[in-house]
Amino acid sequence: MLAAARYAWCHVSEEPAPRVLISEERIRARVRELGARISADYAGRSLVLLCVLKGSFVFAADLARSIDVPLRVEFLGVQSYGSDVRSSGVVQITQDLTAPVEGEDLLVVEDIVDTGLTLTYLVEQLSTRRPRSVRVCALLHKPARIQEPARIDYLGFSIEDVFVVGYGLDYAQRYRNLPYLGVLDAEPTGARDA
Ligand code: PRP
Repeated sequence: MLAAARYAWCHVSEEPAPRVLISEERIRARVRELGARISADYAGRSLVLLCVLKGSFVFAADLARSIDVPLRVEFLGVQSYGSDVRSSGVVQITQDLTAPVEGEDLLVVEDIVDTGLTLTYLVEQLSTRRPRSVRVCALLHKPARIQEPARIDYLGFSIEDVFVVGYGLDYAQRYRNLPYLGVLDAEPTGARDA
């Protein structure tokens, strides 16, 4: 079934299909567990789910549907920049929240914490907006790459230092629609830096 799905994706997209790192089934099960824990922790309260664009949009959509306390969703556009470094820690906010979050319980939803620089910056920035609380839910964490220890309250999976695509994560803006988390063994032809 999984092999068939992988073939189908490859056939339709004409991209090399990445090797499966974490299957759709494992992701689905883990997202349900995270949603149940978050629902229990915030029982009787309401949440602002803060989806950090772009990579978190798939995870946030599934996570939101696994949480059964009242919530609203906000999107924060961020871009790390620097020479050719993947994450410089200098983060530009490219799209801000649509409403104040003062006095509210914020749950930052990240697809991946790599060096931790982006998350550290974001939590600091968000704290200046005087929310009631700020917690973090990250789908993936690469402990081997961490530079700035960042608190992750709800974590999907710890992974090795491999380049992961799919389920919202990209390589040069591609592969975000892959339904599983995969690893690219070879650079795709025609891929360009975003
Ligand atoms: C990813 C991810 C985090 C950041 C983590 O975003 O969504 O925001 O990198 O890296 P760090 O821990 O090393 O700071 P990316 O820059 O790939 O942008 P995207 O989400 O728009 O694809």
